[in-house]
Amino acid sequence: MRNVATMTARGFPRAGLMLCPVHVIVAVIALVAFGFAWLSGRRARRLTPTELTRRRYDRAASFYDYAEGILELGLRRWRRELWTRVPPGNTLELGIGTGRSLRYYPPGAEVVAIDLSPRMLARAQRRAERLGVAVDLQVADVQALPFPDASFDTVLATCLFCSVPEPVQGLREARRVLKPGGRLLLLEHVRSGRPVLGRLMRWLDPLVVRIWGAHIARDTVGNVRSAGFVDMAVEDLMLDVVKRIVATKAPTGDRLAACREAHERVSASGGGTLTPAANSI
Ligand SMILES: C[S@@+](CC[C@H](N)C(=O)[O-])C[C@H]1O[C@@H](n2cnc3c(N)ncnc32)[C@H](O)[C@@H]1O
Repeated sequence: MRNVATMTARGFPRAGLMLCPVHVIVAVIALVAFGFAWLSGRRARRLTPTELTRRRYDRAASFYDYAEGILELGLRRWRRELWTRVPPGNTLELGIGTGRSLRYYPPGAEVVAIDLSPRMLARAQRRAERLGVAVDLQVADVQALPFPDASFDTVLATCLFCSVPEPVQGLREARRVLKPGGRLLLLEHVRSGRPVLGRLMRWLDPLVVRIWGAHIARDTVGNVRSAGFVDMAVEDLMLDVVKRIVATKAPTGDRLAACREAHERVSASGGGTLTPAANSI
């Protein structure tokens, strides 16, 4: 039998009376999200983008690990794999957050790790103590790193460049502090190249950044290139969204000469692969 109470005189359903609990829950979630985004937008107009990012992560620090717990189930093996690529030497981890990568540091690694948010860093400090991992933790902005040129053999970051206000500037700084020939290792989520997913990510980006502080539609691969890195290797790990990016700071001077010599030796001997020693310049 027709429910007369839910129909108008013309026989159309009357929206007000059609609400079920699911509609109410969805509407409340949407209202809260938009309200939150609106309030964040108002605050954003009073703060610099970097200060706003710091506040967002300070605010998220206490629940960050719970909120990202499910994502971490997928990320951890890529995280571990990225750290296996770190050669001995000085390493800089950018945007360490709550220190989720600490357990994958190679034994005896000399790592300096920075983050913009003191509260995220305090969590990383506690985790390092719990795991017994030695790391030099510093509050710093990747867009203006407090280190001299050419001070690190490797610079590594995971899920960072989605949240840095000026990502190309941050990547230029990463390049500046790398030694010539040193490598940048990244695990990042980027805007998918798949048409529907990519468009959806671009569309949702302004909302997600206001709620969670991360851009989901960044072109981090293009940004790494714009920052002047060479020899880029990009691997798609999931849906053309999660990428492993390995790039090099072009060798200069002695290192460049040694590099050329190694390549010439290999060509003269009829090709083949570079030995690990020749490759490590
Ligand atoms: C999405 S979290 C990722 C944390 C960690 N790398 C991980 O994989 O779990 C992004 C982190 O980058 C930090 N961050 C954002 N902008 C930064 C900047 N300009 N300089 C340094 N750290 C920054 C945030 O404070 C936050 O801890």
